[in-house]
Amino acid sequence: MKLLGTLHLPGDKSLSHRSLMFASLARGVSKISNLGSGKDVESTANVLRQLGVKIEITNGRATVHGDLLQVPQNQLNCGNSGTTARLLMGLLAGQGISAEFTGDESLSSRPMGRVIKPLEKFGAKFELINDRLPVKLSASLLKGANYKLPIASAQVKSALILAALGAKGSSMITDPFQTRNHTENLLISMGANISVQGIDIFVDSLQNPLSPIEWEVPADPSSVAFFAAAALAVKSSCVKFKNVLMNNTRTGFLDVLEQAGADYRRSNPRFIYGEEICDLSIHSSDLLGVSIHNSLVPSLVDEIPILAVLATQMNGRTIVRGAQELRVKECDRLRAIVDNLRALGVSIQEFEDGFELEGPQVISGGKVKCYHDHRIAMAFAVANLLSKEEVSLDQPECAAISLPEFYELLESLKFYN
Ligand code: S3P
Repeated sequence: MKLLGTLHLPGDKSLSHRSLMFASLARGVSKISNLGSGKDVESTANVLRQLGVKIEITNGRATVHGDLLQVPQNQLNCGNSGTTARLLMGLLAGQGISAEFTGDESLSSRPMGRVIKPLEKFGAKFELINDRLPVKLSASLLKGANYKLPIASAQVKSALILAALGAKGSSMITDPFQTRNHTENLLISMGANISVQGIDIFVDSLQNPLSPIEWEVPADPSSVAFFAAAALAVKSSCVKFKNVLMNNTRTGFLDVLEQAGADYRRSNPRFIYGEEICDLSIHSSDLLGVSIHNSLVPSLVDEIPILAVLATQMNGRTIVRGAQELRVKECDRLRAIVDNLRALGVSIQEFEDGFELEGPQVISGGKVKCYHDHRIAMAFAVANLLSKEEVSLDQPECAAISLPEFYELLESLKFYN
């Protein structure tokens, strides 16, 4: 069996959330196509509708009628989506809207103080118990502030930028390391007065409404990663991808694998709204183990589960350190990676902030736990492809959080001869 074909994947999840949110703040009608198809993006659309925004979505095409937001009548249920909850806390604080945020069991176990504490420095008023959802926001006037983030998080940085747009005066937000910069790129393209100097972001309060957007969201590189890993590891494969987001704050996975020997080519580069987009082709390759440390982690933070699975097929040692953030994602992803690989007979050492394994190793059949985490499910579905025996997942359906089409697309690439 080999993998052959061309994929045009649904739009990037981070950009889809942001497109819907910022279009809601714009004055006028935005048209967004190839919107991310996962349940997380649906959560954002539903919450924005509760805030009075008219959003129509059919077959990945969204029309958003931006306007002044209204105070919601009910709790805002953000489902499984950290980006929905955290960015909207900043956005609504900046717009002076009172609201109560809730989420599913996984989101309700993730830390929220990391976004609320800095928002309070801008004058936002929250009620937070135990660092967890539910969280209550009461309308207040915000003042610009300078804030240096203690952890590298694009979600927290974005929440602060959104709050700063609605604050009186100017703000400066500083990231410890460069994280995904989609909020900056899109808001600047929509007319916000934001400037970036290295890791410092300067934000002025919004004087005029944002301009509406019209674009096709480029394919999600974090979804591409699962198919790319499979194509790299399964002999004689070649998979092509159309219109992929290639912002260099998101390409860590492919960049690192290219250095490790991946036969991977980019073509047709172009830019829209500050985002680089390319077509890609990936051929199966012999890879060397890789070493990932602190400052590289944000550019592949969501790809570490699939990197761990692929590392079992690479030659030599793969080491990941400085990735403690993985312990507070949709599940404790370091635990999930280590426990599941061990259940499949792989020898791997766990650290508080990462793991280390020596490849190549055989992946045996066995049972894998997904912990309701879409990226764990998809990573171990790829492990199943690389194993002679069956690797069975307890909750394969949770892939729908980011890519409901995942299994169908993976099947469509399989060729037997
Ligand atoms: C995201 C940022 C990252 C990432 C998440 C999406 C975003 O989280 O893991 O899947 O859209 O800003 P952190 O900012 O918490 O690292």
